[in-house]
Amino acid sequence: MTNQRKRDDIIHVLKNCYHNIFEKNLPIYGVAYPHLKDFTTSKQDALKKISKKPPKGNLLKSEDLFRDKWYKNSKSDSKISDTNKSSESRGPSISEISSSEDSKQAEYDSVSANIEEGKSHRKSKKTIYSKDRNKQVNLDDFEKLKVIGKGTFGKVYMVKKITDGKIYAMKSIRKDVMIENDQIESAKMEKQILLNNQYPFLVKMSYVFQSKDKVYFVMNFIRGGELFTHLNNEKRFPEDKARFYAIQIMLSIGYLHKQDIVYRDIKPENILIGEDGYLYLADFGLAKSVKKGELATTFCGTPEYLAPEIIKEEGHNHAVDWWACGILIYEMIVGFPPFYHKNQNTMYDLIEKFPVKFPDPVKHGIPMSDEARDLISTLLEKDPKKRLGYDGGIEEIIAHPWFREIDVDMLLNKQLDAPFIPKLSEELTDVSNFDKEFTSTDLTQSIVPRGGMEAVEKLNSMFNDFDS
Ligand SMILES: Nc1ncnc2c1ncn2[C@@H]1O[C@H](COP(=O)(O)OP(=O)(O)OP(=O)(O)O)[C@@H](O)[C@H]1O
Ligand SMILES: [Mg+2]
Repeated sequence: MTNQRKRDDIIHVLKNCYHNIFEKNLPIYGVAYPHLKDFTTSKQDALKKISKKPPKGNLLKSEDLFRDKWYKNSKSDSKISDTNKSSESRGPSISEISSSEDSKQAEYDSVSANIEEGKSHRKSKKTIYSKDRNKQVNLDDFEKLKVIGKGTFGKVYMVKKITDGKIYAMKSIRKDVMIENDQIESAKMEKQILLNNQYPFLVKMSYVFQSKDKVYFVMNFIRGGELFTHLNNEKRFPEDKARFYAIQIMLSIGYLHKQDIVYRDIKPENILIGEDGYLYLADFGLAKSVKKGELATTFCGTPEYLAPEIIKEEGHNHAVDWWACGILIYEMIVGFPPFYHKNQNTMYDLIEKFPVKFPDPVKHGIPMSDEARDLISTLLEKDPKKRLGYDGGIEEIIAHPWFREIDVDMLLNKQLDAPFIPKLSEELTDVSNFDKEFTSTDLTQSIVPRGGMEAVEKLNSMFNDFDS
């Protein structure tokens, strides 16, 4: 029997026991196909005060089983990176599910609580090989100044390069979590885009290196913070401003599509504002190479931004990014995403089956031009093949009347006046545009639990691509 079959059988049994398990709130553990007797506490055991419960780290959450998808919590919403139903990657066994991010995180936090900055990586840093002598760096070359973000796979810091005092953003990605989620290939793609892109609205990377337990991406630090924060402060944007932002993101997506890369995680949290008011698309962690005629099958993205074909798990391609651009434009103009519902399954239903609704200019006080409505409606076409951009790409999109007044060449040369310039002090290390929840976090360095490190050591050669 395949692992997937075994897992399906277990889920089936659990589903049938649903009422007993959940109404009585009994804990569920996931362990890789043991003999049940190994985890059965007999009366005699109990008398001897022996408990044969599996370790706490193997506790499962009900939604892990019943939705059959992995939900990752990020700071403002959740990003999904599912490896289970994917033909692009091997499905996890029950034991892999048992070490879900949450239980791992608890274990991880408790281990890390008192480890001071630097101590653990001083031991673990290791540069094995350098492709460019001048770019050979390791963790000791950077001083961590602040935490500026926390993502699914690790933290993002503002750092100073000790030799020249330059400020960068440094994303650390835990190798064990990458292995657990089958994300090594995605991280390689992220590296490739960050390192090689020549596009004015994409974040770029200066250095990449690895330590024993983590991979580090050192990128240009975009000081104005997330578009998300700015949108949150303003509630919604006037159409001109939304247009100025939308076109930059759509051009960037067009640039990636021309290289057969699908981005798959458009949302205001992944869009940063530069000090000149122009945007930078960040976070290529879900980007994937999908050639013409191919379909990707991983269930991934951020719930509010998922295209219907991702939810239906029919296979998807570049058209999911144009869908997500439709959601983004709507969210910028209206203030919230079009199919939002606090119940995620209801939200998925709305995305799949219901037409987009626009607010009433009088009743809701949110006006929207006919051109904007038309653009959003054609981007939020449920059938990807009929969606704007499916055949005609970015050229078809910039030809839409909503973008009529934009001079794309001037925009690409950053010659248009930006509608908003972020407030920044003279200080290059100003982090006032980033969430205090992160910037007030102390810089303690966490360590990877032993179980995770064993997997990392076994597969370490897979990380050779990340040598500096
Ligand atoms: N180059 C950068 N300059 C400034 N801030 C950055 C930069 N890169 C990332 N950040 C901040 O760190 C946050 C997390 O980074 P990123 O989105 O790349 O990580 P992630 O692990 O993929 O996150 P998530 O799973 O939440 O999408 C960003 O939302 C942003 O606030
Ligand atoms: Mg992100």
